[in-house]
Amino acid sequence: MVEETKLLYEGKAKKMYETSDPNLLIEYFKDDATAFNGKKHAVIDEKGAMNKAITVKIFGWMNECGIPNHFVEENSGREIVVKKLKMIPVEVVVRNVVAGSLAKRLGLKMGEPLPEPILEFFYKSDELDDPMINENHIKVFKWADEATLDKMKEIAFRVNECLKTRFDKAGITLVDFKIEFGFDNDGNLLVGDEFTPDGSRLWDKETGEILDKDRFRKDLGDLIEGYEKIMMKISRI
Ligand code: ADP
Ligand code: TMP
Ligand code: ASP
Repeated sequence: MVEETKLLYEGKAKKMYETSDPNLLIEYFKDDATAFNGKKHAVIDEKGAMNKAITVKIFGWMNECGIPNHFVEENSGREIVVKKLKMIPVEVVVRNVVAGSLAKRLGLKMGEPLPEPILEFFYKSDELDDPMINENHIKVFKWADEATLDKMKEIAFRVNECLKTRFDKAGITLVDFKIEFGFDNDGNLLVGDEFTPDGSRLWDKETGEILDKDRFRKDLGDLIEGYEKIMMKISRI
């Protein structure tokens, strides 16, 4: 088991700890649920444990697909060991079906499948409510150079293809998701952070039931019940 030495950062849903190895961090999944960039908040028993289990499973799928990511191993409790990254302050969103801010922004009907995936960028800033940005902003403000940006896009689409197929086999529609990238100490660009129903939309393929954090955002029902259904379905794949 890897031991944590010092709290590096506490965010809305996770804590990041340093370890005795300068290349490794411990990522701890909290029970806190937030929405609208922290404006809505609750503590939901067992959410951290569910998110840890789901993240481990999905990073396992990414490994099967050869997608470079920060996951190293499971640790005890709600913790995983990850490679320490210098994070790029950009959220990369990929969408397969119209929902959320895309539906609102363009006046589209939620639930319409897209003829091909749409990729969007958002600047990671709670104070500014994660504004939407484009590639030009990313290059001009030097959040990432052109080569990195190209790699981020290529990897994000590969993540989508990899996960979409597997979720589909599990009876889940991958509507959309958000990923984050960073550089490890050797300069490799890796997918970091997490893949959980906090940062993705996952609908039951047969019934259309919303199983992700929209249950909390929109008061649709018990969050953990949705997360448990996801875990049950994906653990068979
Ligand atoms: P937020 O900062 O949005 O409140 P979290 O509570 O999820 O988010 O906190 C986790 C933080 O750790 C995020 O800011 C994320 O960018 C960062 N992070 C994720 N993976 C790594 C990593 N491997 N190395 C360093 N930082 C990471
Ligand atoms: P959106 O439709 O609200 O733009 O969200 C698109 C996807 O990104 C959705 O799966 C939720 C996820 N997301 C985050 O993980 N963090 C955020 O801050 C936002 C706004 C969205
Ligand atoms: N990730 C943001 C938050 O935790 C926004 C959201 O998920 O709605 O507040």
